[in-house]
Amino acid sequence: MEIDVFTLFPEAFAWFESQRHVANALSAGHRIGYVNYRDHTPLTAGQVDDTPFGGGAGMVLRVDVVEAALRARYGVDPVELRAERRVVALMPAGNLLDDELVEDLAAQPALTLLCGRYEGFDERIVEHFASDRVSIGRYVLAGGELAAMVVCDAILRKLPGALGHEDSAREESFSRALRGAPEYPHYTRPADYRGWSVPDVLLSGHHANIRRWRLEQARARADRRSLP
Ligand code: 6GU
Repeated sequence: MEIDVFTLFPEAFAWFESQRHVANALSAGHRIGYVNYRDHTPLTAGQVDDTPFGGGAGMVLRVDVVEAALRARYGVDPVELRAERRVVALMPAGNLLDDELVEDLAAQPALTLLCGRYEGFDERIVEHFASDRVSIGRYVLAGGELAAMVVCDAILRKLPGALGHEDSAREESFSRALRGAPEYPHYTRPADYRGWSVPDVLLSGHHANIRRWRLEQARARADRRSLP
């Protein structure tokens, strides 16, 4: 998987890339590249944003700046680009990221993530250059960088080579293996702590029973989302 992140803050991703599972995915041949809009702006003094027409607070990322950055990276008119690769605009009002969308994106050979800043994108960027609009939740972040890391993290851990144990991504919360249910509870040593004991079935060594118990638990969690 080749991911390009367009951002004004590529340095924000240094911590993300140092995470073990991300580093593993990158060593396994997956790649994340960064393009700083500011490096490609056709405007003077590194300008990338402007005040919104009609007034209002904040600044809006300019369409000519995003076009220049996309052209510099791909060498084609960005209007044509979204036919050959997914170009995701990260924005609070986008489609909510869920396991299904992550699977869909993880199945792509290449992906472009556009981070907005300030008040977001000039709408023409979204309308003419993006194939997808994606949000990570119904709240507003100062920029798309944290959202881009969330998207990359969720995708990379689906790819071979990222996790120590290949099963851990397959049978995790919200995955098809658990029919979209949240994950079952996990326990480790000590088996008894302050009188809080681990369910007997998990210590039984009976794999079929363990499997049935875990599916039941996952389903019960789906019915009862909030714990006391
Ligand atoms: Cl993708 N971007 C921003 N700026 N805020 C968000 C978001 C994205 N998803 C939720 N809030």
